[in-house]
Amino acid sequence: MAESMQGLKRTHRCGELSAKNIGETVTVMGWVQKQRNKGGIIFVDMRDRAGILQVIFQESDCGAESFAKAEKLRSEFVIAVVGRVEKREAAANENLATGEIEVRAKQVRILSEAETPPFPIEAESKTKEELRLKYRYLDLRRPELQRNLMLRSKITTTIRSFMAEEGFLEIETPMLTKSTPEGARDYLVPSRVHPGNFYALPQSPQIFKQLLMCSGYDRYFQIARCFRDEDLRADRQPEFTQVDLEMSFVDVDDVIDATERMVASVCKEAIGHEVSLPIQRMTWKEAMDRFGSDKPDTRFGMELTDVSDVVAGCGFGVFTGALENGGSVRGINVKGQAEMPRKKIDALVEFAKGYGAKGLAYLSVQPDGTYKSSFAKFMTEEELAKLVEAMGGEKGDLLLFAADKNKIVYSVLGALRIEVAKQLDMIDNSKFNFLWVTEFPLLEWDEDENRFVAMHHPFTMPMEEDLPLLDTDPGKVRAKAYDIVLNGVELGGGSVRIFQPDVQEKMFAALGFTKESAYDRFGFLINAFKYGVPPHAGLAIGLDRFVMLLVKADNIREVIAFPKVKDASCLMSEAPNVVDDVQLTDLQIKLDLQEAVSEAE
Ligand code: AMO
Ligand code: AMP
Repeated sequence: MAESMQGLKRTHRCGELSAKNIGETVTVMGWVQKQRNKGGIIFVDMRDRAGILQVIFQESDCGAESFAKAEKLRSEFVIAVVGRVEKREAAANENLATGEIEVRAKQVRILSEAETPPFPIEAESKTKEELRLKYRYLDLRRPELQRNLMLRSKITTTIRSFMAEEGFLEIETPMLTKSTPEGARDYLVPSRVHPGNFYALPQSPQIFKQLLMCSGYDRYFQIARCFRDEDLRADRQPEFTQVDLEMSFVDVDDVIDATERMVASVCKEAIGHEVSLPIQRMTWKEAMDRFGSDKPDTRFGMELTDVSDVVAGCGFGVFTGALENGGSVRGINVKGQAEMPRKKIDALVEFAKGYGAKGLAYLSVQPDGTYKSSFAKFMTEEELAKLVEAMGGEKGDLLLFAADKNKIVYSVLGALRIEVAKQLDMIDNSKFNFLWVTEFPLLEWDEDENRFVAMHHPFTMPMEEDLPLLDTDPGKVRAKAYDIVLNGVELGGGSVRIFQPDVQEKMFAALGFTKESAYDRFGFLINAFKYGVPPHAGLAIGLDRFVMLLVKADNIREVIAFPKVKDASCLMSEAPNVVDDVQLTDLQIKLDLQEAVSEAE
């Protein structure tokens, strides 16, 4: 039977005790990690969020009643122990923060008994993640997750105090709102009062924060929950958190400056890492040309080389064909990998095809200076030598080439560069390489929709010098948009916003919105801008990603208390689920399901 805590008050967390407390009588409460009964003496490892503590029971110290209770203890029982902190009799356990001490129990109370958990609660669990997610509340007891969530809390605290000191106001914006412009699918919430109408959950607070600028709040921030119905990946969840900010009377440099100091203060407070400021900046064009990516991982080299000029007019049709179609030929030099087995190269070709390549041409410079290559037969010795030279190829190097439209060449080589670096263990995981990518294109051609879409969102300001191009060659316009990248992951992004009605109109036109459709979606913002709008700019950092990278987790789930899995369901609560007919009737909703809903029905 569970006992009460009455009369006892916790004095310390288990993991907080140390040699400094020797001689003190303490009251600790927590979970039994392990109980070992050695006859007249019982050892119990007690756990709470601060760590593990060894407690010793002997009848001579604690009396028969407590000793009998100690004999009954099993893993995950919740107990309260009153005892004296002593120096460990056995050799200190260096693996434990509390390894120099133990608590000699005088009294124990069993506050809650526990069934045998479906998996052992321990560090570096080998249990399948599915099972752990089903019992997330148990998994959350494990030290790694506790450390991650405690660090996450420290990070949000640091952000709040930094932002407050910088004069930012924390203002909440609605969750039940209208479709926002970030381009993913919305999560919809039906309205009971307005049958047939739906709220959208915000993909970001974008429009509201711009309205707050119109209202004079000057510097806003929010640690905001956002919702996007998109395919999940290791760094994507359907609901996630942004550190969202917006500032008035500023330009690109002001947002970058505030953000990087915030990021640096978080790194310092959370993990003691000094970010050297200012963070390096690179234009989008340079990032694409050098790394084939708008979020380059700069922890290693193996940069792209454009060899279009070198291979122009050569005898290899794949190369010249790509150039004739307005594309390019580019390569990466995998140093010292000339001996890579054919099977591995073939696997890289397949990998490249996954990114849209029609093939991947390779050439290895053998130790004796001869070439092994998939295309050497199409080129003269001289052409090959020029190509190898352009690539900085030396004996022992493996050169990989993609020839296609630029977009494909970038995406293939950008991904291949990362893949090869991973396979060859070229990435220094101790590094935190931050980078700003600036001057993104304003628009991107959407092949499916056959129109331009906003690369960031429709309120992003073109660069002043490119404004005339908005009418003549919209695809060439660069935007006052910037992303912050950490170790090859897009950490955050933002832009200076359009605040002039004529520019906004041109932007909507370039995007193929009619005046009506623009008004229909964003009318309240367009109207607000008629009544005095300050120039403004902002950005949002993906908080989950930031924490993930700081704790070096490889999945965003590791830093979210109750995450969802790939199909956007929660294995623990079993959301989403079917609802009562009564609820649907209230909402005047009739289902018209195309397929069977679920086995649960
Ligand atoms: P953006 O769409 O680039 O910008 O989002 C900002 C940052 O949010 C994070 N993020 C995500 N994290 C986890 N799961 C997701 N599904 C997910 N989607 C995005 C990323 C990303 O860099 N309103 C603009 C910001 C602005 O212009 O001020 C916006 O939302 O880390
Ligand atoms: P083929 O003559 O089509 O067999 O191609 C010769 C070599 O060029 C093979 O190694 C192909 O994988 C490679 N290749 C084919 N298409 C491309 C491309 N678009 N870019 C780079 N290499 C290619």
